[in-house]
Amino acid sequence: MTRPSDIPTVPGLPVVGSALDLALRPHAFLSTLSRYGDLSAVRLGPTRAFFVSHPDLVHQMLVTDADRFVRGRLFQKIKPLLGEGLVMSEGAVHRRQRRMVCPAFRHSRLGGYAEVIQDVAERRLSSWTPGRPVDLVRELQELGFDVASNLLFSDGIDPQVMAVIRRSFPTVLASVMRRTLAPTDLLEKVPTRANRAFATASRELHEAVDTVVARYRERGAGGDDLFSALLAARDESTGRPMTDRQLHDEVVSVLTAGGETTGTALTWCAYFVSHRPEVGERLRHEADTVLHGKPARYEHLADLSYTQRVATETVRLYPPVWMLTRQAVTDTRLGGHTVPADSTLFHSSYAIQRDPRFFTRPHDFDPDRWLPERVGPDQRHAYMPFGRGIHGCVGERVGWMELVIVLSTIARLWRLAPVPGAPVRPVFRTNVLPRRLLVIPEPR
Ligand code: HEM
Repeated sequence: MTRPSDIPTVPGLPVVGSALDLALRPHAFLSTLSRYGDLSAVRLGPTRAFFVSHPDLVHQMLVTDADRFVRGRLFQKIKPLLGEGLVMSEGAVHRRQRRMVCPAFRHSRLGGYAEVIQDVAERRLSSWTPGRPVDLVRELQELGFDVASNLLFSDGIDPQVMAVIRRSFPTVLASVMRRTLAPTDLLEKVPTRANRAFATASRELHEAVDTVVARYRERGAGGDDLFSALLAARDESTGRPMTDRQLHDEVVSVLTAGGETTGTALTWCAYFVSHRPEVGERLRHEADTVLHGKPARYEHLADLSYTQRVATETVRLYPPVWMLTRQAVTDTRLGGHTVPADSTLFHSSYAIQRDPRFFTRPHDFDPDRWLPERVGPDQRHAYMPFGRGIHGCVGERVGWMELVIVLSTIARLWRLAPVPGAPVRPVFRTNVLPRRLLVIPEPR
């Protein structure tokens, strides 16, 4: 039996180990990890963590042996944001909460959600001025939030309250990732500008969500939106509805998990549309053939097959959740080694989905690699942008719908051209985004 010390260690600097590489050059760092094996040890300051670089082992951790792992470091850091919502809870509490939330995402509701997504997209995309540059990072992040909030609250949210939520979210999320990668927790206690900004943004966010929940309750729900489904949910064993605290936490969970993720994926989709003329051309052709100039509906989605492949390939190269953590509950066998109890394990869909062992020419953008005759079980197994198992994304089908509807709406309405000389470089934070993505929209 191997000991933890037999797990190959990624070379790092004295004292900090690999902490700086991971924080400052994650893209380069992640791409070297598989050299050290499917499971490697990484020093992050005084602590030692592990990196899981093979889909079989990630699958084992997320699915087969899921009860041997809890969510770990990233999630401890995110707790002040998400309380006991679905994204945070563990074990029996999580199972109970997940059963209550799942009906809100059931198949019969998707047609209604597709209409909401189409309406929000149509409004936002029609507001662009022909020939005037737009920053798609900002536009599509805001669109992602608008869709998530409109899916939750079909009566709409007071624009002032929504502005507070939009403003505070990025600050809170950026601090969460910084705190996860920091070699020590001590830095969180120092009253730096970033820590003070985090405290203020966090307080404002929670107050704004409380206001929304209270106002919506007053008005009475009963609609087709997500919040109404959460209000109607009953605990199987007690028959009780969710408390205000639980509703609050689930609202923040959906806004966090569903807003920025789709906004990020959409930004990269739009990057390929604007920077690869042949991709834009094929998308517009498909939109014309399938939609005939009309807004997309749920029934159209299956026929928008090239649009789906563009979304799938974009999320392979730029998965919005690029790294996740788990923590071993007990000593656990993984990849022929024993990982000690309490260890933190990182896994990165960004690294695995660009690994040449699973994808040929892994850095090329090639939507047709997902044609049924070209894709095989190895690629499907290695592709996990929505996670897997008991904590896998509950909003996955909504996320896919949103990508395809928004992309087809862009293709129906606009031709996007890059602003010459504007650089597009990915920056890794909680998400991976360029600082700006400037394009010039020309009407069709
Ligand atoms: C492109 C879009 C999206 C991506 C890439 C994405 C990705 C993910 C991933 C990777 C996880 C698993 C986290 C883990 O294993 O610990 C997750 C969980 C989750 N996602 Fe998504 N997501 C997306 C869209 C959405 C949407 C639209 C919603 C809701 C409207 C949503 C709600 C959730 C929730 C509530 C969880 C927690 C599930 C649980 O722990 O039981 N996501 N998502």
